[in-house]
Amino acid sequence: MIFIKKITQQNRNCVFKLYEQIYSTNRNSAAFLEIMNKPSHIGFSGYVNNKLICFISAYHVLDEIDIIELCVAQKMRRQSIGFELVTHLQRHCIHNEIEKIFLDVAKNNIAAIGLYEKAGFNKIRVRKNYYKLGSFSIDAYGYCWNMKI
Ligand SMILES: CC(C)(COP(=O)(O)OP(=O)(O)OC[C@H]1O[C@@H](n2cnc3c(N)ncnc32)[C@H](O)[C@@H]1OP(=O)(O)O)[C@@H](O)C(=O)NCCC(=O)NCCS
Repeated sequence: MIFIKKITQQNRNCVFKLYEQIYSTNRNSAAFLEIMNKPSHIGFSGYVNNKLICFISAYHVLDEIDIIELCVAQKMRRQSIGFELVTHLQRHCIHNEIEKIFLDVAKNNIAAIGLYEKAGFNKIRVRKNYYKLGSFSIDAYGYCWNMKI
């Protein structure tokens, strides 16, 4: 059973640690910390037996949300936890009349693409060379969920 609560100043550092664990050296962690400190940030974290095992992080502007990150601890994957977090965010949108959720995902991220499509997101665009890591770059797919569809 997963217990979901909002990301706040109190649990932000634990979320940050999980982010660093999952992405180890290949991401700019300081930038993620900055994102979580912005007033428009909204996020939810999930716990099993009081241990943080996942989170979803987003920006909320007017009637739209942009997902920035979604992470599930390696050992807890394929147990519908990511799906539960995304549906929690969708319920939050419905309750708060936030019409749309947007996100970008690397086109080789089969797990995340499967999850978002299962949660009712539709592919709306391709962004060429959107993600860059050193000399390597990869396209992203843009997805949107619209509560009115
Ligand atoms: C993407 C991620 C969040 C998925 O979390 P998860 O809890 O394992 O996913 P779920 O168990 O809820 O899976 C939901 C659906 O996603 C798809 N999926 C998840 N993992 C998959 C995999 N390894 N291969 C193929 N499809 C997969 C399936 O369609 C699955 O539905 P099903 O169980 O009915 O087959 C997780 O793999 C992760 O943290 N990855 C690293 C960070 C990342 O890439 N985040 C996305 C940024 S946009």
